[in-house]
Amino acid sequence: MNKKLVGNILFLLFIASAFGQKLKSSKSLISKKSQQQRDFQKFKKTYAKSYESNEHESYRFNVFLENQKVAERLNNKNPSAQYGVTKFSDYTQEEFLSLFAFVPIPSDQIIFGNNVKDTPKIDTQVKVINIPEKWDIRFDGPGTLQKVKDQGQCGSCWAFGVSCTIENLYSFKKNLTLNLSEQQQIDCNPYTYGCQGGWPANGYDYAKETGLTTSSKYPYEAVKGTCRFSVQQMDKLYKINGYKQIQSDQKSIKQALITNGALTVIVDASKWQAYRGGILQTNYPIQLNKVANIIGYGPNYWLLRNSWGSGWGENGYIRVDNNGNGGIDLQYVYQPYL
Ligand SMILES: *[C@@H]1O[C@H](CO)[C@@H](O)[C@H](O)[C@H]1NC(C)=O
Ligand SMILES: *[C@@H]1O[C@H](CO)[C@@H](O)[C@H](O)[C@H]1NC(C)=O
Repeated sequence: MNKKLVGNILFLLFIASAFGQKLKSSKSLISKKSQQQRDFQKFKKTYAKSYESNEHESYRFNVFLENQKVAERLNNKNPSAQYGVTKFSDYTQEEFLSLFAFVPIPSDQIIFGNNVKDTPKIDTQVKVINIPEKWDIRFDGPGTLQKVKDQGQCGSCWAFGVSCTIENLYSFKKNLTLNLSEQQQIDCNPYTYGCQGGWPANGYDYAKETGLTTSSKYPYEAVKGTCRFSVQQMDKLYKINGYKQIQSDQKSIKQALITNGALTVIVDASKWQAYRGGILQTNYPIQLNKVANIIGYGPNYWLLRNSWGSGWGENGYIRVDNNGNGGIDLQYVYQPYL
């Protein structure tokens, strides 16, 4: 074969393959885009999302895509957890934190919250009990828990955290299944900021002084309103005798959990937006912005209960690691008593 012809053929092959590459990559771009569109449609359907205009929708679509990139990075960084599409996937991180977490309390006020009436004593009595490797109140007790609740777009996690522990306490101390009112706490607790956040200790102060009614008597609305009840009108208010701050070591907390039930804890929920399951790892300084409940543990994790409905995380729950910091602060763990 003549050299020139070979050269020409090679050249043509080169062009053809370059063209093919280009075609292939624009094809894969198109299919990637349409896959993303399909994912977004699926997301909208799953979480019953609708947007007021095409502009809003395309803005939310872009936020959704950004969040999927964040989820992918988190999956690589934290392989023991799974991140992906959740009901929060169309919110920016800023929106997510301001709508579903609470405004961080300035650190000079953090120690016992502001206006705390009853400065709790730190419980330093570590009784020697045999601490099992795993615990989950849902199966091992003590008592029972209500179904996971949903705080909606209101920074009322503190009220949900408080009622979870008191419901649990009444279930094993008084054999009563209660669904306590968060709305009453939001509207009536003078020591907290309603939907703008609150400190669990302040929640317990109110539960001790006034007591809580049930959510069927004072249903949830996810916005702060005026306090709509008077103590005289209530046939029954469920009070606590007080609350303790648990010494901040793992053993004391596990022991308190096994013997006296659910606890409130302050957490950093910044990485919870895309959480779908597994053990979340955090070994960097954390920002406290949410209240949750410790309701169990395993060899390398804490089991927390959240108030974002049962469709989030592991049926409304999350496991966080206990060797980094898991994004929780063991300095602020509280427990009510009767
Ligand atoms: C607890 O309450 C349930 C139903 O209200 C009742 O059937 C049960 O006997 C009670 N248990 C105790 C130990 O009082
Ligand atoms: C308990 O109360 C919450 C609101 O506080 C409500 O959303 C939920 O449906 C109630 N659960 C039950 C089982 O009644």
